[in-house]
Amino acid sequence: MQVLSVTPEIFPLIKTGGLADVTGALPIALAAKGVTVRTLMPGFPTVMAAFKKKRAVLQYPLLQGGKASVHSVQLAGLELFVLDAPHLFDRPGGPYGNATGVDWPDNWRRFAALSQVGGDIAGGAISGYQPDIVHAHDWQSAMTLAYMRYGKAVGVPSMMTVHNLAFQGQFGAGIFGELGLPAAAMALDGVEYYGGVGFLKAGLQAAWAITTVSPTYAQEIRSPEFGMGLDGLINMRSSDLHGIVNGIDTGIWDPETDKHLVSNYTASTLKARAPNRAAVEDRFNLERDDSPIVCVVSRLTWQKGMDILALVVDGIVATGARLAILGSGDAGLEGALLAAAARHRGRIGVVVGYDEGLSHIMQGGCDAIVIPSRFEPCGLTQLYGLRYGCVPVVARTGGLADTVIDANEAAVSAGVATGFQFAPNNGGALLHAIRRLVDAHASPTVWESLQRQGMKADVSWDKSAEKYVELYRSLLSKRVA
Ligand code: ADP
Ligand code: GLC
Repeated sequence: MQVLSVTPEIFPLIKTGGLADVTGALPIALAAKGVTVRTLMPGFPTVMAAFKKKRAVLQYPLLQGGKASVHSVQLAGLELFVLDAPHLFDRPGGPYGNATGVDWPDNWRRFAALSQVGGDIAGGAISGYQPDIVHAHDWQSAMTLAYMRYGKAVGVPSMMTVHNLAFQGQFGAGIFGELGLPAAAMALDGVEYYGGVGFLKAGLQAAWAITTVSPTYAQEIRSPEFGMGLDGLINMRSSDLHGIVNGIDTGIWDPETDKHLVSNYTASTLKARAPNRAAVEDRFNLERDDSPIVCVVSRLTWQKGMDILALVVDGIVATGARLAILGSGDAGLEGALLAAAARHRGRIGVVVGYDEGLSHIMQGGCDAIVIPSRFEPCGLTQLYGLRYGCVPVVARTGGLADTVIDANEAAVSAGVATGFQFAPNNGGALLHAIRRLVDAHASPTVWESLQRQGMKADVSWDKSAEKYVELYRSLLSKRVA
């Protein structure tokens, strides 16, 4: 089976969040199940620089205002189609905005171009290559499914995976004329959305199947509270909606072999976490003692509940726990957390920025990771936490609710608990969960059981990749012969 995946990000080439981890790991897990995935992605500068040998397989004299070509390349087990369109993607800064984080005004054009190419490839534009299924990720590639539907690839099964409904790619109606779609597409059951053009909406409308990244989030987005305006459409399509929880790349995230760690370990050598812990204490200027270090590795945003955390930092310090926070995002939240660190020197340390290596050391050295998200489609850092014996403390929502088993009395005595859940998501409940954590940490037997149980949990892609394969197969069976 041949799958064309279309994504704006892929690990290890370009990553702003979990989407990249997923689009990088899933093809490798699927390969083990006989599915060949090729991934179409934009030729951002870091991506273009990663390849010496390129082979153009498709040329565009004019694609959304400039010359473009598609190159077939291989990297770290991944088969890629890279869209080289310098007028759209050869820019400094991040994939979606300039160095100060302001979105590029022509993002609609950039990701319409990516999607148009996806639609063309689905329709057979690359000689010798015909995908059986097209799998789009988030709004940046969602229009692929519209280009397929209104173009040559209308008979090719498609899947739309929603990693985060908060980002929808909504633009004014004025762009429609430049998308190269037939006039009929500007309709309620097409790309039209509240009078403008909705990229994710268009994908949700056109997809043969819709998936999101956990069963609980798949339920939640059917409600107005989590549906972000799309709950009506999602409910209409509920018979085609599936929640498949993310896995992690257990080759990259393996405490026994992880090269970022100061000291490698397994579930039976937990004491060997100590040098990683010491490295965290150094990096975050924390006092050395036996109290638990609770970490945060996150985008600092409202979604992630970082304002809730900022409200109760003083209370957390009063429990005796220390905090090590790595993240970047909202300037106000960065400021609030830096101020907390200044107030509690030695007890709270904050590193503002994005540091892949440090994130591994934190999972390998901290005692717990706290994730107070308001909503969380899946969440990956709690899965890394489980695998690394860094006990997750999570808000009971989305994928967090699906992947962490709360250490209530029954679960602890049955020896199945892997972390702490709290609800509702407010400062009081978060603080209460941290207190429970501090109490549990005081008992080495209870704590080590939590760590070991988490490390035993199957967080690999194996089962979930199988679910994608089943879904792909069911779509193939719906093709009209
Ligand atoms: P989201 O995609 O919503 O940000 P996920 O939990 O799915 O949330 O994925 C976040 C990914 O980004 C994880 O791999 C996490 O380790 C990583 N990450 C987030 N912030 C940072 C940071 N400041 N430095 C390093 N890695 C980070
Ligand atoms: C999104 C979500 C996150 C999920 C990730 C990968 O960024 O916010 O919960 O884990 O996508 O699917």
